[in-house]
Amino acid sequence: AAPGWTARADVVVVGSGIAGLTAALRAHAAGVGSVLVVTKDVLSAGSTQWAQGGIAAALGPGDTPHEHEVDTLVAGAGACDPAAVRALVTEGPAAVRELIALGAVFDQGTDGELSLTREGGHHRDRIAHAGGDATGAEIQRALVAAIEAAPEIEVVHHAHAVDLLLGEPDAEGRRPVAGLTLHVMGEGQRDGIGAVHARAVVLASGGLGQVFSQTTNPAVSTGDGLALALRAGAVVRDVEFVQFHPTVMYLGPDSRGQQPLISEAVRGEGAFLVDDAGERFMLGEHELADLAPRDVVAKAITRRMHATGRPHVWLDARHLGRAFWERRFPTILATCERHGVDPAVDLVPVAPACHYASGGIATDLWGRSSVPGLYATGEVACSGVHGANRLASNSLLEGLVFARRIAEVLPGDLERLPTVAPDGARDVPSGLADPDRRRDLQETMTAQVGVLRTADGLVAAGARIAELAADGPDDVPAELAAWETTNLLTVAAALTAAATLREETRGSHWRDDHPARDDRRWAGHVDVTLDDEGA
Ligand code: SIN
Repeated sequence: AAPGWTARADVVVVGSGIAGLTAALRAHAAGVGSVLVVTKDVLSAGSTQWAQGGIAAALGPGDTPHEHEVDTLVAGAGACDPAAVRALVTEGPAAVRELIALGAVFDQGTDGELSLTREGGHHRDRIAHAGGDATGAEIQRALVAAIEAAPEIEVVHHAHAVDLLLGEPDAEGRRPVAGLTLHVMGEGQRDGIGAVHARAVVLASGGLGQVFSQTTNPAVSTGDGLALALRAGAVVRDVEFVQFHPTVMYLGPDSRGQQPLISEAVRGEGAFLVDDAGERFMLGEHELADLAPRDVVAKAITRRMHATGRPHVWLDARHLGRAFWERRFPTILATCERHGVDPAVDLVPVAPACHYASGGIATDLWGRSSVPGLYATGEVACSGVHGANRLASNSLLEGLVFARRIAEVLPGDLERLPTVAPDGARDVPSGLADPDRRRDLQETMTAQVGVLRTADGLVAAGARIAELAADGPDDVPAELAAWETTNLLTVAAALTAAATLREETRGSHWRDDHPARDDRRWAGHVDVTLDDEGA
């Protein structure tokens, strides 16, 4: 079918978390004429809203961007882009102060200074937080208020970004962005499938956690931006580096989808992990013990679970006491209680679950992808700051800093980017995947492409994903669940292909058949395009 309606904008921003809303606000402030924000649900449905621990930046007395840089590079296990890390840590403090000036209220000590805590991999207290453990919700609230106060920025809700519109190839064979196809659901005027013509599209569509059975990500995190970029021929980088958060509340073997996060900040305030026998197994694992980088803790937990045959370990935070829990972690306390656990009295059952895609659409230092006119920021992007393992609380900061960078170059880039007509032949894609495939896909990914990977498991997963993509009815109706399942299959194939290729263990990519880091062969990146992964 051809698109049913058309619209026009200078820039379309896809996604409405910290990265998308910052990009839109800053692009508008930088003088970009018309900015359109599209969000798959409502503005606050994405991952930002769920962030607990906080946002990292060298804001405290004695801390320096250099120390933040060193911790980020160490966690990234040799796979970071040092220039991107430098930009993140040096621009970070000003970016956070700007967020405060915009209206985000962070927790303060009695001296009126920002209250800063510590998380895994940080050697200093540098995590600013809000509402105790509701940092993302406060940031999202402030950004939504700012967007609502800027009526010139148009927002389209319940709009699924289907595919990029591309122009004819340039002299180098690269097809520039001409806009975007949207499927708007239940929003009146522009309902149904339509096209927005634009010279630039900023993807800030978040992560892919729903590709696994258990994740901390909300339901909307189905890898749409990554899949759409792959279909447009963009280079996607280091997607094998999927971070599993060590302490996700274990709700039983049948619990699926978004699971409750128990922030690292709880360990930052003194909680520790124990096994069934009460042993503090992190003590011998790393000099930072329970506050080792996230991959180290997730691997140690997984090893312990395998050794004991139990589906989880325990987080002991009883000594923090009821009053401290109520003041510092009210959100997590309420969640635990909802599931019948009082963390001031009981041990909390925890296990690793998919949390964050450290890789994504490859960008330069200004968020530009390999497709002219296509930008990416936040979790969907691979700016190079996270390497093989994102440092805790660097994700909100990345969205903030690199969205600002995109907005800085957009006015100049828009003058240079060609105004292209879509090549006309690009109708809405057909051959959508049957949503009934989703559960099988998620179970395959969790079993074979999760925390611990092997060559045999990855080959089996690749074959199963191909089967799931190939078989099924021809006439699946175009509705959200089908778009998402199609995207999940595309992203799963890319992730599995990259994980198969990287025959070493590094950061959050753990190959049981190649247990050592191999800097001789694998110091570089794994880039994937659609042709490589065959989805
Ligand atoms: C957490 O609060 O533990 C999550 C922080 C993060 O993912 O950076």
